[in-house]
Amino acid sequence: MRLAVVGATGMVGQSFLKVLEEYVQKGKLRIDEFYLFASARSAGRKLPWLGGEYEVEELTAQSFDRGIDVALFSAGGAASLQYAPIAASKGCVVIDNSSAWRMDGKVPLIVPEVNPEDVQWNKGIIANPNCSTAQAVVALWPLHKRYGIKRVVYSTYQAVSGAGMGGWNDLVEGLNGRSPRKFPHPIAGNCLPHIDVFMEDGYTKEEHKMINETRKIMHQPDLPITATAVRIPVFTGHSESINAELNSPFELEELTQLLANSPGIILQNDFTNNEYPMPLYADGRDEVFVGRIRRDYSVPDGVNLWVVADNLRKGAATNAVQIACLLNTTV
Ligand code: A2P
Repeated sequence: MRLAVVGATGMVGQSFLKVLEEYVQKGKLRIDEFYLFASARSAGRKLPWLGGEYEVEELTAQSFDRGIDVALFSAGGAASLQYAPIAASKGCVVIDNSSAWRMDGKVPLIVPEVNPEDVQWNKGIIANPNCSTAQAVVALWPLHKRYGIKRVVYSTYQAVSGAGMGGWNDLVEGLNGRSPRKFPHPIAGNCLPHIDVFMEDGYTKEEHKMINETRKIMHQPDLPITATAVRIPVFTGHSESINAELNSPFELEELTQLLANSPGIILQNDFTNNEYPMPLYADGRDEVFVGRIRRDYSVPDGVNLWVVADNLRKGAATNAVQIACLLNTTV
């Protein structure tokens, strides 16, 4: 496969490089040619990859004129809107990590553990979901298939790396007493119930993304969902409290085993030994960690889950590379 990374110098771009390296080393993906793109600011910079060095090129309309099969984009919405259609018109399949294309009816939005079949109707652009949504649906999907889901309440505790280098730097600088540049308030020693911009209805765009993207990935356009998304002073790893009301009765032990045996999930659910998922230990991992599984007594068939994953990996790079592997058989 001839593969390009667009936004290679960014937070997610760097994770793309790491995850791709691991997938190649493990024989899960074969890359014959490898290209790196970013803005003009980074042109000429050399980045290490698989024992070699690759020069970053400025992304232009001509970047895809050389028969690139797959491009992983994480360079912001504006670059995706401008360049993904150009890449697609040259026969490249774009896996786009921005929110620009996710809700477009002609663009599949994929989490491989949930809807891998949607890759088949792509027309050159495939959307990678919002980080918080990706990890949530990995946990919700097995419950939906077995019991049906009636309603979901999301409350998130999200790491600063979800806001790119700027978010990361705000926490580093803030810990040294300096003022924030990316966030509207200090993040060190604080938490901000504000991720992405505010919408007219008082929700944030992040909360809208979680609601709409969950419905699209799970093919449940009317599923009742609400969300509150909060930024916390953690570098990497998003945590989520997920409250789900199911359509049918369940045995807690059976539900727990179902999650334990589902793809992409690692169960950490032994409260007697203080075992539960935490962002510090999810850092660098590709799986979604699930624990604190308990019955919600306030409704007939409710369950609470605590779900943690590395937002730069399963929330972004790993999910995109998994999609590239789904494509591998066709390119
Ligand atoms: P650069 O480093 O040259 O600015 P992050 O979200 O961590 O800040 O990373 C954003 C990534 O997207 C970086 O690699 C950045 O490159 C890249 N990028 C931003 N705007 C563009 C653009 N217009 N064209 C290509 N790459 C871009």
